Amino acid sequence: MKIPSSIWTLLIGILLTLISLWYGQNHGLLPTAASEEATLVDGLFNTMMTISTGIFLIVEGVLIYCAWKYRQRAGDNTDGPPIEGNVPLEILWTAIPAIIVLGISVYSFDVYTSLSGVDIHSAHQAPITQEAQSMPGSAMAATLSDSSPGDIAQADMLMPEQERPPADVVINVMGLQYAWIFTYPESGITTGEMHLPIGKKVEIKMTATDVIHAFWVPEFRLKQDAIPGRESVFRFTPKTEGDYALICAELCGPYHGAMRTQVVVETPEAFAKWQQEQLVASQDELNQAVAMNPGDISPDEFLTPYTQQMGVNPEVLHQIHK
Ligand code: CUA
Repeated sequence: MKIPSSIWTLLIGILLTLISLWYGQNHGLLPTAASEEATLVDGLFNTMMTISTGIFLIVEGVLIYCAWKYRQRAGDNTDGPPIEGNVPLEILWTAIPAIIVLGISVYSFDVYTSLSGVDIHSAHQAPITQEAQSMPGSAMAATLSDSSPGDIAQADMLMPEQERPPADVVINVMGLQYAWIFTYPESGITTGEMHLPIGKKVEIKMTATDVIHAFWVPEFRLKQDAIPGRESVFRFTPKTEGDYALICAELCGPYHGAMRTQVVVETPEAFAKWQQEQLVASQDELNQAVAMNPGDISPDEFLTPYTQQMGVNPEVLHQIHK
């Protein structure tokens, strides 16, 4: 009995679909998804993986099949039939990729806009910070800036701070050569390691002091530029306990590769405990410093021991606290 080619096509189609769907979910290429937003990004990545697996198998399958089926037989020196063009086939192989590309672009835009709190307008027109004028390189930043004061007002109108639902934890992030400094304005904690409570909405307000850096935590599927003189605001909700690497993802100088730190995602209880410890530690240090340095000292003199502790260039710190 001869099986008709339409049945073969159907069977192969079903098999390819099943393999693609399975591999799209089981490729194991992504690190742990440690934020709620990561699920959205992974959904998009897995969809693209499914489609690419199907295309790869079809293209390679047809290639190998044809190379074998139409191979030269022993003693046969004739040429194959001269075939030139096939309009329906060409329309088909143009239409299918066009539909796929259109579908992926709509889906990816949807993921991009629903990544919580990343306001696409403000992300492109991050308002210029007040300190920007007094910063080194502010002239350069001004030249690079593509928004006039009018544009900033418009950006503020698109996302007024008071209309955003309040986040559970706000962290000010400062990128500098070659460290990250985190300040929790609610408690006044300043630290070089980021701690986050599970399940709480975190809002990051980020800027840089010297050059452009980038905040990248692969497990959060988050990468955002830290730009001198601008404030980038974004939000996410950590969901998986663990220690993750925060990596600078923008070439920012000779020690760019060393500009990384830890992000610790922990239970709200452990987070509260950590905050307490930080407050006690900074109070102790403060008492010690005051006891050791009676009398009037300038902020620079006062801060010098801490800058060495945190691995921060004193010059840079001088600029920050001005
Ligand atoms: Cu900062 Cu690279």
